[in-house]
Amino acid sequence: MARITASIYTSHVPAIGAAMDLGKTHEPYWQRMFSGYDFSRQWMKQHVPDVIFLVYNDHATAFSLEIIPTFAIGTAGEFPVADEGWGPRPVPKVIGHPELASHIAQSVIQDDFDLTIVNKMAVDHGLTVPLSLLFGQVDAWPCRVIPFAVNVVQYPVPSGRRCFMLGQAIRRAIESFDAPLNVQVWGTGGMSHQLQGPRAGLINKEWDNRFLDRLIADPGGLAGIPHIEYVREAGSEGIELVMWLIARGAMADVAGGASPKVAHRFYHVPASNTAVGHLILEN
Ligand code: DHB
Ligand code: FE
Repeated sequence: MARITASIYTSHVPAIGAAMDLGKTHEPYWQRMFSGYDFSRQWMKQHVPDVIFLVYNDHATAFSLEIIPTFAIGTAGEFPVADEGWGPRPVPKVIGHPELASHIAQSVIQDDFDLTIVNKMAVDHGLTVPLSLLFGQVDAWPCRVIPFAVNVVQYPVPSGRRCFMLGQAIRRAIESFDAPLNVQVWGTGGMSHQLQGPRAGLINKEWDNRFLDRLIADPGGLAGIPHIEYVREAGSEGIELVMWLIARGAMADVAGGASPKVAHRFYHVPASNTAVGHLILEN
């Protein structure tokens, strides 16, 4: 059977992708931010999975106000890199895993979660920046990736509690797939940031670090935080953090197993308008 071996959490700031693509990672502004991923790149070399189930949000790139799926699973064989206005990022296309993705869709939908099945989709910075951060500049991504898009852009957005429960259903789905695959589940986006309005530039280090503490040790309690707290404390785009609860819900301890091991934890401000948070949890 397939196994979930780890979950990885990281912010997805588009300027991080631009810094990598334009060779600016050693500039003073970026040095400390990228150094927080040195360990992770080494760790990844030893822990390349067969498949990453990558929870991210589309930023009105593949979807628009015409169609707004709350949860969308990418079942295609491959996903092109989106043009977000400056041409597609110079990164490899994403190779999917249609068999596992279809199995997860079957299992999770029958487990009472409504997923939109997406057979054609370009992926934006929400998905490509986390891959770049963890794998660096490569000619091909070293594993398959199943994109899982969550609407955190247009209200109403799903609650943290529902995301946490969905993660548990995704775990049941992956662990019932009849092939010996090593699967990681990634939760991306966040941490505190607000890109618009009078509070643009909002960062809340204390709240973010408390979120990381609770994500590790009290995810069930953390899942109870209402939307208004994310928006008030972490800014309007801080709501992206509900996606981390999907990945956390897929970890073994939530299903009665052992607590995860914290392999790496990092927090840095600023990166563009955003606080960067990053965790690696091993099952
Ligand atoms: C920024 C952060 C985001 O999450 C995003 O989607 C776009 C921009 C930023 O900090 O600039
Ligand atoms: Fe974003």
